Amino acid sequence: MGAAGRYGGEAMIIAIDGPSGSGKSTVARLVAERLGWLHLDSGALYRALTLAALQRGARMDDPEALLSVAMTSRVELRPAEGEEPRVVLDGADVTGAIRTPQVTAHVGALADVPAVRARVTALVRQLAQGRDVVADGRDATTVIFPEADLKVFLDAAPEERARRRFEELVRRGTPVAYDEVLAAILERDRRDRERAVGALRRAPDALVLDTTGLGLAEVVERVVCAADAIRARRAARAEHGGSASEEGR
Ligand code: CDP
Repeated sequence: MGAAGRYGGEAMIIAIDGPSGSGKSTVARLVAERLGWLHLDSGALYRALTLAALQRGARMDDPEALLSVAMTSRVELRPAEGEEPRVVLDGADVTGAIRTPQVTAHVGALADVPAVRARVTALVRQLAQGRDVVADGRDATTVIFPEADLKVFLDAAPEERARRRFEELVRRGTPVAYDEVLAAILERDRRDRERAVGALRRAPDALVLDTTGLGLAEVVERVVCAADAIRARRAARAEHGGSASEEGR
């Protein structure tokens, strides 16, 4: 009882990583909803800061300028029932505006800047303080929460991810061609996997799920089952005189 956990109190953390279009944000949101936990979408923070940089006319090839934007912008994630969290930038709701192809095209440059990454990492950890959370991104399992209770790596074939992203953009009313979406996904994969700090990679202890042939509900079910198993193990240990901090993870 009262044992201090790794990130504050006895809160639990599920971290989910995966490439663009692997479905991690949607899965993270639905898992968080099922468990009644907070969803922290780190990609939404990178996107909001990218939008801020574009709005302020910062040069996307100037790391100092990008860091200055990151240090002087206030980004909030507000949970919304049954929907993705609302993203608020300096008081304005930018939930839709951060998903445009323009922001998508520039977010990689901002996410390449190590000091900007440190800022976002600190912000996510601060938002998670003492709460049960599901966090997703590219380095949620490796850098932001390397000691998460459950780590998940979601993957899918690039063509499948491009199809999902294409359909999402069409739903949002953004006119695009599938081939362009696929090319952008492949380019973002390369950038996300090759960046010097915070690159996308599978944590050795992550549960790996290839979602190519799997429905959303099935993926969510598997993650929730894995989380339930961990919770049950914790409860059993606590009952037998152990404590959460003695689990050795
Ligand atoms: O929507 P999608 O899965 O394509 O991307 P996102 O999760 O919204 O993240 C947008 C971009 O932010 C990614 O392409 C990464 O370049 C960057 N990102 C990152 O570097 N680290 C994270 N933890 C999350 C996102």
